[in-house]
Amino acid sequence: MKLAIVSLGGNSSIRILKEASKLFRDVTNIHVKKVEIGLKTKSVELNIEGNKVKDYDCVYIRGSHKYSNMQAAIAESFLGKAYLPTMPLSFNLAHDKFLTALYLRRNNIPIPTTYLVESRNMAKKVLENVKYPIVIKIPSGTHGKGVMFADSLESAKSIIDALQVFNQPYIIQEFIEGSDEGISDVRAIVCGDKVIACMKRKASKGELRSNIHMGGIGEAYELNSDQEQIAVRAARCVGSEICGVDMLLGREAYVLEVNLSPGLEGISNATKKNVAKLIAEYLYKRTKEYREKESGVKDTDRKIDEVVTTLNVKAGIIKLPSSVSKIAGLIDGDEVNIKIKKGIVKIVKKEE
Ligand SMILES: Nc1ncnc2c1ncn2[C@@H]1O[C@H](COP(=O)(O)OP(=O)(O)O)[C@@H](O)[C@H]1O
Ligand SMILES: [Mg+2]
Repeated sequence: MKLAIVSLGGNSSIRILKEASKLFRDVTNIHVKKVEIGLKTKSVELNIEGNKVKDYDCVYIRGSHKYSNMQAAIAESFLGKAYLPTMPLSFNLAHDKFLTALYLRRNNIPIPTTYLVESRNMAKKVLENVKYPIVIKIPSGTHGKGVMFADSLESAKSIIDALQVFNQPYIIQEFIEGSDEGISDVRAIVCGDKVIACMKRKASKGELRSNIHMGGIGEAYELNSDQEQIAVRAARCVGSEICGVDMLLGREAYVLEVNLSPGLEGISNATKKNVAKLIAEYLYKRTKEYREKESGVKDTDRKIDEVVTTLNVKAGIIKLPSSVSKIAGLIDGDEVNIKIKKGIVKIVKKEE
């Protein structure tokens, strides 16, 4: 099987590529800046230096938000032809913090209260009615740049005045207070229906942004199963099987954003896990499944796990062991068909 990683050639992408080369027959890095795109009514054509881009079994697209339209077009050109961990429009969605919040909310995922303001006058109205401190951010910022904090109406107003120069919309957001020693910020790497690595990030002294790029220190952290489900659902609603979900653990777990190209160095050091290897293994497993499905290997040919247990029924509600939902990859909110016959209950997830 052949894998292409489309990226800017950063360290994390190259690490994944190296790990993947132990599994895939052929691996290539395609530099996103070298791709030429042509949209036609019936096709999306990709060329590199005048040559048509080859066929692949898996195309994993990473890289900066600056290229989100390009990334969407590359994904589109492989849709239905290769396994894509991230859907085309996810690139535009995830790279905009406000659009992400819009989708997360639609899917009942907790978010901090978030306002989008287009002008100084709009901002002033919002600022007079919020509780301080607040966070002000640029929808497309990364690495903590473009995130500002204000502890009073006065300081918020001066930030808003400065932002007027850029003449672009910005976000005003509720500040989420950490519940545990003031450390609330969590980065979880999601692969499919699991969190494969997770760290808490503590901001450096005198800093409220806990990004590793801002000097934040990561420490391995284990999410509880409700928090893990929130991360998995956030990834799913953005349309990406492999991503970094940023959460703030306050009164509940709030999702801040979804990163489609998470850096791996900080989280690998913090968790002592080879995250690149785990991602490469996931890519391989899903690509194999994708090709099997295409070549008609029936679901019934796959191994079925069996759990022998005594049924737990409370107030008429059947409670299944957590291993059952884990093996089945089912999470809260999944749409399923339940087939029932005396003595038999069969739960089948609806095809996406
Ligand atoms: N609403 C908030 N409440 C508290 N801290 C926040 C909030 N929003 C952002 N932060 C802090 O700022 C950091 C960067 O914010 P984020 O929205 O993830 O932007 P970026 O894309 O730049 O990482 C977060 O990791 C967190 O430490
Ligand atoms: Mg972030």
